[in-house]
Amino acid sequence: MWRIRKFNCFNRTKKNVLELKQTNITLKEIDVTDFRFLFNLLKQRDDRANISHKKMPTYSEHVKFIKLKPYSKWYIIQKSKIKIGSIYLSKNDEIGIFINKKFHGENFATYALELLINKNPRTRYLANINPENISSMKFFKKNNFKLIQHTYELEKN
Ligand SMILES: CC(C)(COP(=O)(O)OP(=O)(O)OC[C@H]1O[C@@H](n2cnc3c(N)ncnc32)[C@H](O)[C@@H]1OP(=O)(O)O)[C@@H](O)C(=O)NCCC(=O)NCCS
Repeated sequence: MWRIRKFNCFNRTKKNVLELKQTNITLKEIDVTDFRFLFNLLKQRDDRANISHKKMPTYSEHVKFIKLKPYSKWYIIQKSKIKIGSIYLSKNDEIGIFINKKFHGENFATYALELLINKNPRTRYLANINPENISSMKFFKKNNFKLIQHTYELEKN
């Protein structure tokens, strides 16, 4: 599990506020028109990105899950109105972020993380990452999250 204390990560200067605006990255709260996009994004996830979803749900299971409002905030990440990913903040202040593979490596996740934190001030944020998910570990580490624990699981049928 990775944790960040409030605003360690983004000491916002005029310059990076301007940079953020220029990326045209925005967060939009999810609605019914996003269900299919979120399902397609879910299909892109490999086992290393998954902790909670071990197996791909059906579309109707997916819709049911969204309608249960499982997170405190759930956004579509848009670049100039094009949907490029999603980011959520759980009720326990855990962040989950997923960018469409086509848009990886362009700092979009970094900008989306900053927007989420600005919109939802908390004293600390958490991220649960599969230890095989190297890119995500690097991503959170680069954004000043510190590793605070390893969690072990025993699965019983
Ligand atoms: C993790 C993820 C959100 C990063 O999105 P992204 O937009 O590509 O990330 P950014 O371009 O903002 O990357 C910033 C930093 O993250 C790290 N990073 C991102 N992708 C990486 C990769 N493929 N390999 C190594 N480091 C990577 C790097 O430190 C990078 O900084 P650098 O380019 O200066 O080295 C994206 O890879 C993703 O959606 N993965 C699948 C879903 C997932 O695993 N989510 C995490 C569970 S919550």
